[in-house]
Amino acid sequence: MSGNPGAVASDANSALRSRVAVRLEATAGALASAASDLLLIPCCEGESTLPGDARPLSKPLAPLLADRMERGEFTGKANQLSLADSHGVTTAKRLLLVGLGKRSSVTAETVRQAMGKAAVMIKSLGVAHVAVPLFGPGLGKLTPAAAAQAQAEGLLLGLYDFNLYKTEVKPPLTSLGRVTWVINDRRQLPVVQAALERASIIADAAMLARDLGNHPSNVATPSAIAELARSLAAELKLRCTIMERVEMEQLGMWALVGVARGSQEPPKLIMLEYKGGRADDPPIALVGKTITFDTGGISLKPSENMEQMKDDMSGGAAVLAAIQAAARLKLPVNVTGFLPATENMPSGTAQKPGDIVKTLSGLTIEVINTDAEGRLILADALTYAARLKPKWLIDIATLTGACGVALGKHAIGLLGTSPELIAALKAAGEATGERAWEMPLWEPYYDQIKSNVADVQNVGGRYGGVITAGAFLSKFVGEASWAHLDIASTAWIDEPRPYTPKGVTGVGVRLLIEFLSRQGGGKPAPRSGRRARPAKSRPARARR
Ligand code: BES
Ligand code: MN
Ligand code: ZN
Repeated sequence: MSGNPGAVASDANSALRSRVAVRLEATAGALASAASDLLLIPCCEGESTLPGDARPLSKPLAPLLADRMERGEFTGKANQLSLADSHGVTTAKRLLLVGLGKRSSVTAETVRQAMGKAAVMIKSLGVAHVAVPLFGPGLGKLTPAAAAQAQAEGLLLGLYDFNLYKTEVKPPLTSLGRVTWVINDRRQLPVVQAALERASIIADAAMLARDLGNHPSNVATPSAIAELARSLAAELKLRCTIMERVEMEQLGMWALVGVARGSQEPPKLIMLEYKGGRADDPPIALVGKTITFDTGGISLKPSENMEQMKDDMSGGAAVLAAIQAAARLKLPVNVTGFLPATENMPSGTAQKPGDIVKTLSGLTIEVINTDAEGRLILADALTYAARLKPKWLIDIATLTGACGVALGKHAIGLLGTSPELIAALKAAGEATGERAWEMPLWEPYYDQIKSNVADVQNVGGRYGGVITAGAFLSKFVGEASWAHLDIASTAWIDEPRPYTPKGVTGVGVRLLIEFLSRQGGGKPAPRSGRRARPAKSRPARARR
């Protein structure tokens, strides 16, 4: 079924990708004599001593900094930027002063933000080569690896632009071709190089998810996403299986098939399998809501902002991207991704409010509102994924508008059946700045989804919408240790953030990669017959 004869994609990124081709490199040496068009100078608020590897420039740059600070132009406040001429103090002619805020409040997240802001400025300058000192160690308790990774992630994510459909803009998106980290301590070079490599893979994954969400629904159809999954699989030696509608029907996935009934686009259940762990390790199952456009169906949405519903596949995009990264990072885990993919459309063949569908699990659902379609497709996908007996079962979905009401646009809704899994996801969210907040999955909420005519109904009324949606999903996960991430309020932003332009954010990708990176328990010894992984390609498991 997954055969892909004929068309062999030579580049998984050719079809749906915009790409910033920036080379990241590290070299040992003195910042003052580093060759580049622009030198980035980090600065902590209220300090005349420059942090990290910029320290040797404190004295030569003291007059410049004092002048800017006196005039209140640049104080080192977090995310503040100021351009300066180097006046021969450094080989680079131009300097970009970057505020990191108070030394005591520097974290990986503040570093990503400062670098993201700097990236937005760098884009507008038209420079080709930028040099950067390593911000750590000794700053915000960051190890050299963590500092370099945070710097590079913030920079790459900040450079992102989605302009594939603007005919007057020609790639490359930016003239920037090269960024060099200049390291004082030569012994740190390998660690920093590995961190830069890791950051590129992670940022690239987040940008894949951004691209997929930003593409309009007439391009990023279920079939196009299936093709992308296939080419990723070919490139990264993953197993990819695409389940078609007939097989969904044969299996009895009527909730998934029911949502697809209104659309001309055929639904797909896209499955992608990465095996980096031992053959007998149970996989981690990731299920991502992949509604390529959500009109609401017969329970039609209002037209205001409806165009944003092209991003209703952000959960699926996050799963695809996380698996791409897991494979490229060679993480020692087994991961299987499930992307139930379809449009949600109104038409003469669409399902209607009051319809009752039987699910793969055997439970029947009364479809009170066709706009609560995410939980319908997830019901069947979760049951299917749970049959794998996964170690963890995680779903990620733009599921409820109620998530924004409850948590605003700065937190992912989180709930599930396993406290251990929830704690691990929360920790991964904190480390990556994609923070998740747990909601209670208490028994009284289940009363709200009782149906008069079926086993369960697909809406739970006005109150506690994130939770009633989660309660609904929990009925389809069997015995699995499961958690649910609601990214409805975080997948799209209307105001740009330091390393995220407005539009689709790619949220969840870095959280999932961090979560996967912390799995595997460091068990060595791949079985005989399999080539041992070289030690250096093993990801750092350092705690940050
Ligand atoms: N995709 C939407 C959720 C959503 C809303 C995401 C706004 C991003 C921004 C989901 O399919 C939906 O329509 N949910 C309904 C559920 C309701 C009918 C119970 C909602 O939240 O209104
Ligand atoms: Mn909907
Ligand atoms: Zn939806």
